[in-house]
Amino acid sequence: MKKLIFAAALLLAASAQAQTVSGDAAAGKSKIFMCEGCHNAGPGYKTAFPDVYDVPMLNGQNAGYLVQALQDYRSGVRRSQTMHAIASSLTDKDMADIAAYYSQPKGAN
Ligand code: HEC
Repeated sequence: MKKLIFAAALLLAASAQAQTVSGDAAAGKSKIFMCEGCHNAGPGYKTAFPDVYDVPMLNGQNAGYLVQALQDYRSGVRRSQTMHAIASSLTDKDMADIAAYYSQPKGAN
């Protein structure tokens, strides 16, 4: 079942039409504390280190896109030393939950 959901999530990401993957936004909210220091996404968003990092906005981003990005960082398909280290510490479920959280309509978080 888990494999099936994963495959479905990949398909959705590929079609770029994803509304939701099987993530739990409430669970995701408890997993993003380590992302906020850099991404700091949310109402009143400001880049934490404007001179050092060009950090993409996560809030409101498509869930399928977020999961795909994290998996690509983990596998090394997408290169970023920082995000590779972080993505390597996440399970597929963590990624889905985090993506569900960040993809909520603005104002929901
Ligand atoms: C130390 C700073 C830092 C932390 C902590 C961090 N990120 Fe990142 N993140 C970055 C940077 C820098 C990039 C841009 C990397 C690149 O050039 O691809 C990035 C890129 C991303 C992207 C790709 C966004 C896009 O628009 O393509 C995602 C998704 C992402 N991070 C998710 C997360 C999540 C989820 C967490 C927490 C589990 C997290 N990041 C924690 C610095 C950070």
